[in-house]
Amino acid sequence: PREEGWFQNSLYQFQGFWHQAWLIQGALGFQKHFKACDDDILLVTTPKSGTTWLKAILYATLNRYPTFHLFPTITPISHNHPLLTTSPHLLLPFVEGMYQDNIFRDQIDGMASPRLLFTHMPYSSLPKSVKHSSCKIVFLCRNPKDNFVSLWHFANKIRPKTWGTLSLEEALDKFCRGVSPHGPFWNHVLEYWLESLKRPDKIKFLKYEDMKDQPATNLKILAHFIGHSFSQEEEVGGVIDDILSICCFENLSNLKVNKEGKLPFGMETSAFFRKGQVGDSVNYLSSEIIEKFDSITQEKLGPHGLKF
Ligand code: A3P
Repeated sequence: PREEGWFQNSLYQFQGFWHQAWLIQGALGFQKHFKACDDDILLVTTPKSGTTWLKAILYATLNRYPTFHLFPTITPISHNHPLLTTSPHLLLPFVEGMYQDNIFRDQIDGMASPRLLFTHMPYSSLPKSVKHSSCKIVFLCRNPKDNFVSLWHFANKIRPKTWGTLSLEEALDKFCRGVSPHGPFWNHVLEYWLESLKRPDKIKFLKYEDMKDQPATNLKILAHFIGHSFSQEEEVGGVIDDILSICCFENLSNLKVNKEGKLPFGMETSAFFRKGQVGDSVNYLSSEIIEKFDSITQEKLGPHGLKF
């Protein structure tokens, strides 16, 4: 099955989920050839759940300097941290994007450990070696209504202008039928949720809303989970606050590299920043649509104890 009209590319159904055409070959390559290392850290997200933020947070957590006050945002001491001059999207390779090409694939294979990697692949399609090694998976998702609204805005930012605007109703129809990049959204989230219940040491299931609500607590949990806990001295020295302030929406979205930069294939880095808030969907969705979303979420996720 194939569906047109979301992004530049058609979406194709592959192993039960919808993928952008340009990623299918890479997804297959990733599935077939990727050899996980025990200390790999794999970030998995639903598109528009805060991937950019989590990429920055994980990168900064792994790349803290041995002194305290690493990034008192924008004081001279911080001027050379890679996050200030490089898009988070270039700091964590997108594995199914890279596996389309042997040269890029070799780059991933040759990365120094611990490798910090990123994918949108559903759990059921992950390579066997990811599931069977001791590598860690950090899964990030977001409440479906905000996720949808963010995706709709993003789709309109990156569509060819000649296609005109994708209406909210059209996007909603596709999303609720399960036809969205890496969707059905609810199935994608559910797979990781169920697996995280079975293997909490393997998969950390995170929600954007929880990261927003209690960033420091969740960052500590995350750092511990990936085996890079903060020491007492680092905590007292303000490292957690430094990481959170360099990675926060206000800081990242105002950096030149994220305002004016371009990613390979020409996508503008600014497309990944809009409002960065919880609950913005109420400004776009009628009470009827909200009810529809809530009932799908309750029907699909409620019985498994997952609420947003
Ligand atoms: P909104 O469209 O609701 O503003 P992704 O990174 O997965 O593409 O998700 C993009 C969403 O995350 C956008 O949401 C974007 O504004 C938000 N975002 C980007 N950087 C962020 C940050 N540092 N902190 C919080 N939210 C961020």
